[in-house]
Amino acid sequence: MTSTTTINTLVDQLKANPLNWALLAVFLYVLRSYISAPANAAPEPRHPETIVFKDYTPIELQPYTGKQDNGMGRILMAVNGNVYDVSRGRNFYGPDGPYGNFGGRDASRGLAKGSFDLDMLTDVDKPIDKLEDLARDEWEALREWEAHFAGKYLLVGKLVENI
Ligand code: HEM
Repeated sequence: MTSTTTINTLVDQLKANPLNWALLAVFLYVLRSYISAPANAAPEPRHPETIVFKDYTPIELQPYTGKQDNGMGRILMAVNGNVYDVSRGRNFYGPDGPYGNFGGRDASRGLAKGSFDLDMLTDVDKPIDKLEDLARDEWEALREWEAHFAGKYLLVGKLVENI
């Protein structure tokens, strides 16, 4: 069958039954969507945000309070020498959260003593709190919090002294 014969047959079919016009319209519509689909369906591939395990000094940690400044909205927090990304606990540690004081800081003393008061925090330009005065039950509390953070949040680094 030549292509002319095929076209003639198609035209005859269209003349014979008006329903065929509707079928042709549906066919053309599906064909058009199929041809234009790849452009819509394939968004630009984007690399997921890379999180690198690294050392943070208290000064470097400080911007990560959840505000849209140097920390770019992320919230990091140190617990007994480990740094966790607690961004998904924004309701707790974000700028308006009840434990917002801990965001971007070493929270160890506050967690050990069960207090989120500002005087639990060590100034960021001072040496890291060695926690030498903690009582046995306070160490126990801190270790329990450590287990909580390790189970819930991503460990992203270590807290090291300012250079
Ligand atoms: C006034 C007394 C307090 C109340 C009513 C309270 C209430 C709560 C509640 C409801 C949660 C969520 C528990 C969950 O969903 O797993 C929580 C979590 C937490 N609380 Fe408190 N809290 C109090 C005192 C404190 C204090 C003094 C500290 C200071 C260390 C503290 C630190 C935390 C931390 C670190 C979490 C875990 C948040 C997380 O999973 O990231 N809380 N608290």
